[in-house]
Amino acid sequence: MPAQDYITEIPYISGYYSDLTPARMSFIAAVNNFRPPDIFQSFSYCELGCGCGKTTNIVAASYPQSDCVGIDVNKEHIRIARNESAGLSNIKFFDMSFSEASRQNFKKFDFITMHGVWSWVGDSVRADILRFVKKFLKTGGLFCVSYNAMPGWTQLTPFHKIISTYIKGKTCSTTEKATSAMAYLQFLNENKSPYFERNPDAKVFLQTLEQSDMRYVIHELFNQNLRPEYFCDVAADMKKAGLTFVGNSEHIQNYQMTLSEPFKKLLNSAGDRIASETHKSVIQNDRFRKDVYIKRGSTKERKNAASI
Ligand SMILES: C[S@@+](CC[C@H](N)C(=O)[O-])C[C@H]1O[C@@H](n2cnc3c(N)ncnc32)[C@H](O)[C@@H]1O
Repeated sequence: MPAQDYITEIPYISGYYSDLTPARMSFIAAVNNFRPPDIFQSFSYCELGCGCGKTTNIVAASYPQSDCVGIDVNKEHIRIARNESAGLSNIKFFDMSFSEASRQNFKKFDFITMHGVWSWVGDSVRADILRFVKKFLKTGGLFCVSYNAMPGWTQLTPFHKIISTYIKGKTCSTTEKATSAMAYLQFLNENKSPYFERNPDAKVFLQTLEQSDMRYVIHELFNQNLRPEYFCDVAADMKKAGLTFVGNSEHIQNYQMTLSEPFKKLLNSAGDRIASETHKSVIQNDRFRKDVYIKRGSTKERKNAASI
């Protein structure tokens, strides 16, 4: 199946993300008064867009009682992931799109995770993801999603358009396009273009890109889609898959102690959890978020399962 508008010609860098581990997600659920799945018994885990599979392989190795699945449309990523899982019998990797995956017959999962995917795919792929989660997350199961957030991305959003306009019509390789686009951005910055002069976050972001692996730069900025979003808009999409917000994957972010008194008052006067978390995200100028959600099930199911 084609990746439907996501870059496949350049493999992504391999990385481990502790936010995606069952222990971290369970801890975030517990500190927010939700009962997590029991990770001391057997449980099932799935990473969507697992890339080269490092996180899922580490989860499978750390929890021999678990059954783990990694899904990614990029065949090279899955080849690397399978190669690195040598010897582990509790993990399977599938090279398929989310659309194809949502039509399979997987057993339901206690945990589904997704890092570095949501902001970089279009509406139809997002719909496939929500279909998958709705179908395959157990009642009481946890979902972790990361995304580029607003308002922190405000000064950076022009990067995507500036780059796509600059490389339009160029016939060279993706890496050559990326190298020339970076040189163009550096030219604008060094010659004090008002865009960089008036947007200090953009200057700092350019410095970060200069120090980053080019594969990161390409996957961050060269996909057809790049859509940073406010917390409340992502939460509204998650609701379509039957998910309720649990908490921020950064432990400290689940408390109000970093906020001044007027802001604490504002949060406490918000009508509901989504409104108060939206205030918090705006106050803090969030630029990247990693959030945990739960599938709560019907009232009857909740009665049977005490605190979920
Ligand atoms: C930026 S990478 C993140 C990889 C990994 N989660 C990480 O953080 O290192 C996004 C991943 O999503 C995968 N992906 C994008 N669109 C997809 C789709 N429609 N179906 C399945 N995988 C997709 C890409 O192949 C890529 O591996």
